Amino acid sequence: MGPKREAVFVCQECGHESLKWLGRCPSCQAWNSLVEEVRPGKSGAFGSLAATRTDLGAQPRAGEPPIPIGKAVSREEQRFSTSIGELDRVLGGGMVRGSVVLVGGDPGIGKSTLLLQASQGVSSSRGRVLYVSGEESVDQVKLRADRIGAASDRLFIAAQTDLGVVLEYLRSIAPMLVVIDSIQTMYHPEFPSAPGSVGQVRESTAELIRFAKTSGVSVVVVGHVTKAGTLAGPRVLEHMVDTVLYFEGEQHHSYRVLRAVKNRFGSTNEIGVFEMRDGGLKEVANPSELFLSQRPVGAAGSVVVASMEGSRPLLVEVQALVGATNFMGTPRRLATGVDYNRVSIILAVLEKRAGLALGAQDVYVNVAGGVRLEEPAADLGIAIAAASSFRNVPCDPQTVVLGELGLAGEVRGVARVEPRLQEAAKLGFRRCLIPRNNLKGLGKPAGTEIIGVENIGAALEVALLR
Ligand code: TYD
Ligand code: MG
Repeated sequence: MGPKREAVFVCQECGHESLKWLGRCPSCQAWNSLVEEVRPGKSGAFGSLAATRTDLGAQPRAGEPPIPIGKAVSREEQRFSTSIGELDRVLGGGMVRGSVVLVGGDPGIGKSTLLLQASQGVSSSRGRVLYVSGEESVDQVKLRADRIGAASDRLFIAAQTDLGVVLEYLRSIAPMLVVIDSIQTMYHPEFPSAPGSVGQVRESTAELIRFAKTSGVSVVVVGHVTKAGTLAGPRVLEHMVDTVLYFEGEQHHSYRVLRAVKNRFGSTNEIGVFEMRDGGLKEVANPSELFLSQRPVGAAGSVVVASMEGSRPLLVEVQALVGATNFMGTPRRLATGVDYNRVSIILAVLEKRAGLALGAQDVYVNVAGGVRLEEPAADLGIAIAAASSFRNVPCDPQTVVLGELGLAGEVRGVARVEPRLQEAAKLGFRRCLIPRNNLKGLGKPAGTEIIGVENIGAALEVALLR
């Protein structure tokens, strides 16, 4: 009797497995996400369904007995630099040995370029690197390598999609870093799921994780992003790996932002900023300067806010456009780079607490340069930008604004004001509007006027020119 085959339904979103088809995943609640995968039954290579799952767990089966915590060696100490400062920063201070990093991003954003540059950097300064492309031929990789000047003889490239073969390469080359570009193109003939299926992606990732944990080799895998903005394939990939980085930016702009959405070895607040040039990605030393470079100085609706991205203050321009709604329709509200609901609340506060009749106005809010502002400290800037556009009165171009807006119209204190003020002073801004609460005991940079405001009305008085 041949091996019995079992059908199992796997959720494409979260990897939940079910023995029967369901219209909605009971685990992540996604509709229509279960897809059938056929696997060998109990007598097959991978045993039963239950055994498959334990086999594919993210952690190595190290088989070591428990040890006193004081004797444990921390992997975190064992880091190496990728030679790209901005990438090291996002990783939490360099790449941890034996860690597995997933890099996601839209097609064409520059993932392959970034990782080839890192591979070149590591191989020229530290040790061997294997770059495996499942999407491009060796010729194509070489073309890109020429563009960015990657020619280290410790950098090995291979066009391969068979993970079994890749693992053999790894044994013979013994690199310190391997890049798999991309995980969706990899398959292992010994794994039971069909090539290209979610099961293959998950199993290939699990195999690479096992390899990384047992060998101490760092692994970077590239993952594609779906239209909805999540990594294609099961979300479980994100749970399995140590670190998940997203490479973002607009294709028509040259700068790119790298951010960590998960990091077992560091903070997820840090961002790295790059600019795509002819010779590859260049690190941007002073992102504030870049983000403000095209600011229409003195235009109504434009306000500079001071945001914190990880440990780094960032000055960005918030723009608002407010205009009467046509044909007595429902007012349109659009927000890019800031949370839509947050904008709705801010507009309601402006209407009720500052007396701005925004009810019949279309409002568009945009953060220039494709940056995303997630901090409430940007509230006051958004409010002033909207008021400035509504009244058609510019905000003082020499002023930086920060503060959270409460429902009563009060301006609430924010964390870490000092680095923001220093960044503003560094870029030559003369005035900073901050929450009055933050004034106490504040170290003020010389040459910058600091104005504490208590509520939205006072803030508008000070910020808008007349
Ligand atoms: P790529 O790294 O292939 O993106 P991904 O792997 O995320 O799909 O980058 C592709 C884009 O970058 C492509 O539009 C060409 C551009 N590019 C440059 O502008 N300069 C360069 O030096 C390189 C290598 C690419
Ligand atoms: Mg690519």
